[in-house]
Amino acid sequence: MHFNHLTGFLLPALVSAQTFTSCDPTKKTCGSDVGLNQAKYNVDFTKGTSKDWKMTYGTAKYDRTNGLSFTINKITDAPTMQSEFYFFFGTVTAIAKASPGTGIVSCVILESDDLDEIDWEWLGGQPNQVQTNYFGKGNTTSYDRGSTETVQDAQNTWHNYTIQWTSAFTTWYIDGAPVRTLQYADAVGGANYPQTPMRVKLGTWSASTGGSQGTIEWAGGQTNFAQAPFTMHVKSLSITNSNPGSSYVYGDRTGSFKSIKVQKKLANLPENVGDDHSNSYVDVFIKAFMGVPDLF
Ligand SMILES: *[C@@H]1O[C@H](CO)[C@@H](O)[C@H](O)[C@H]1NC(C)=O
Ligand SMILES: *[C@@H]1O[C@H](CO)[C@@H](O)[C@H](O)[C@H]1NC(C)=O
Repeated sequence: MHFNHLTGFLLPALVSAQTFTSCDPTKKTCGSDVGLNQAKYNVDFTKGTSKDWKMTYGTAKYDRTNGLSFTINKITDAPTMQSEFYFFFGTVTAIAKASPGTGIVSCVILESDDLDEIDWEWLGGQPNQVQTNYFGKGNTTSYDRGSTETVQDAQNTWHNYTIQWTSAFTTWYIDGAPVRTLQYADAVGGANYPQTPMRVKLGTWSASTGGSQGTIEWAGGQTNFAQAPFTMHVKSLSITNSNPGSSYVYGDRTGSFKSIKVQKKLANLPENVGDDHSNSYVDVFIKAFMGVPDLF
């Protein structure tokens, strides 16, 4: 629920950074999104790096036991990566271990160009909890979107974190058990329901890296970097895409799922693979407070 905290304290910086870096299809005409043109996708990070993913900040390591590792050693570290493709409704499963460390946030996030978002977030000081959250069209108004769920030993035990995302509801599952469902109508009558093509973002950051007092408190306090390294692991990630397509186009500026056009073959449109027009608030947060220019 860091966004609520960020909102209260950091919104001006977030908004200006966001406006500066994003192409929001509800506000202007943007290029099409590269689609995941298959119904099922799996990446096994124990086999190493994948061309379907790109680092948006920092570096990752790979090994046969733990798959992908994101490590924070010092205050300027905030390793983040994202899928090169988008998908449009479906299911995402991450087999992950959260990072330890007070003030360290680990995330698995789905995010769209108009800032619909569905999140898992772990706080390093809370090894038996995971937070779920969502956003619609970048609406960060503090409200009741976030929730905290119980999970045993999230930092040392592999768990299966699954999000089932449909046009009618979103359900978060831990190890196959549903822990939360959001109905379309319960998100401001659907207006704030996440419903546009998403990409997957993975990463970890410290609230001490420029966070406000509120963010630091939310994250559990200041990080003691003398206790580093702090490492998050993702072993594998699988996606079922309900609407496979070579690209996705916003047909109008409503941000409604009904407006999304799924293109089945390559179109002669500018595509934005690798471009940075969709920045999560985590990215923007880091960028705004580390004074990092266009690294995302
Ligand atoms: C933003 O979210 C708040 C809280 O859920 C809601 O009251 C408000 O109507 C939303 N704004 C828009 C523009 O949807
Ligand atoms: C993860 O859990 C989902 C159900 O929540 C299940 O369908 C899937 O097979 C599980 N994946 C793995 C790799 O265990």
